[in-house]
Amino acid sequence: MTTGADVAALVLRGRTLSFGDDPRVVGSDEAVRSHEDGAVVVGQGGRILWHGAFADLPPAHAGAPCERHDDALILPGLIDAHVHFPQHRMLAAPAHDLLEWLDRFAFPEEARYASPDHAAAAAESFLDKLVSHGTTSALVFSTVHGQAADCLFRAARRRGLCLLTGATMMDRNAPGAVTQDAEASARESAALIASWHGVERLRYALTVRFAVTSSEEQLRLAGELLADHPGCLLHTHLSESAAEIELVQRLFPWSKDYTHVYERFGLLGENAVFAHGIHLSERECQALHAASSTVVHCPTSNAFLGSGLFDIEHVGAARRPVRVGIATDIAGGTSYSLLQTLAEAYKTARLKGRSFSAFDGFYLATLGNARGLRLDAEIGTLDAGRWADVVVLDPCATPVLAARHELSESLEDVLFALMMLGDDRAVRAVYVRGRRVAGGR
Ligand code: GUN
Ligand code: ZN
Repeated sequence: MTTGADVAALVLRGRTLSFGDDPRVVGSDEAVRSHEDGAVVVGQGGRILWHGAFADLPPAHAGAPCERHDDALILPGLIDAHVHFPQHRMLAAPAHDLLEWLDRFAFPEEARYASPDHAAAAAESFLDKLVSHGTTSALVFSTVHGQAADCLFRAARRRGLCLLTGATMMDRNAPGAVTQDAEASARESAALIASWHGVERLRYALTVRFAVTSSEEQLRLAGELLADHPGCLLHTHLSESAAEIELVQRLFPWSKDYTHVYERFGLLGENAVFAHGIHLSERECQALHAASSTVVHCPTSNAFLGSGLFDIEHVGAARRPVRVGIATDIAGGTSYSLLQTLAEAYKTARLKGRSFSAFDGFYLATLGNARGLRLDAEIGTLDAGRWADVVVLDPCATPVLAARHELSESLEDVLFALMMLGDDRAVRAVYVRGRRVAGGR
């Protein structure tokens, strides 16, 4: 039986690119799914009905309206695996290191989210920026104020976005305006889970800021909540700066290492997402691998705050791979653009003597992050059944890109130039559930 959702609403035609698997693991020939003259068919319900070569378009879809992007690339919408919504306007705040930056800039700015009006306006501004940069899904840090997460959920729902967030749990080592007693914050998280987890495309992420700002009691309560709500994510920071790691050792003297603190309270697991992971030891990588947790590389932030160089081949080592994602980490990060983020990841890899191909980068920003956020059944590829969240990238968007494009000889080369030289100007169109939400051309 054909339902309304199966009826084609739109055909997107152009060079399509999607991944079936991780090119680092299976090789790019096996991983890449691309059609030079391709088509993505979107159903009335906003899901993808078909992806393939335009020449093979099933006759049933041939009558649907067609939007042509002949000289551009059609990809799954980009996914940001770690970004801070209340830091949406505090980019480029210079500090000696992470801990000073938090005290001087992040905590005072986040204190403003006690105002619901401020949080509601910020949520719209933040989501506008994500979408205009080609990002259609994200795992987002909010603040300690439950109503700030509530505002962001509401705004994302109105836009039909797939978004994961939660109220931040912090009960020590920060100003009173951004901390909350452990019991109260656990109650607030439970109430938000009941209101939002699983509503349309929204998911709840239990959000412990980092071990530094949580008491053992708060970590214990977070572990209990995670055990009670196994569909939720756990979102936190791990092993970012040297001073932070030393402080964690002082605060939790019994711990073997930073990862052990989270482990002790039941916070490692397949739904756990840890931002940074720059200085992880072999033991920590083994524990994260055994738990099937995800570590998110935040290259522009790591460089800006001087936190260190993430070693993708150490963390992802084939003998005990830890799942890796990639993120802007606004506003430790300096760009909303996942293209700019991939460029910085490339440079970080080179500084560590590692490789990082364009296929590696675009895989991470699509299917890799979808897998890390446990959303790969819903987003991250152009496969039939996934939501039609799509970004169209123009490889000639700027004079510099256009000149470089004349030299490009392969798909990988086109993608490499886009990841090194592209930004939001390269985003020609963005579709969420098959509806165009950005790009007028
Ligand atoms: N660690 C704890 N909080 C933060 C934050 O807001 N940004 C970054 N980059 N690291 C953190
Ligand atoms: Zn962060």
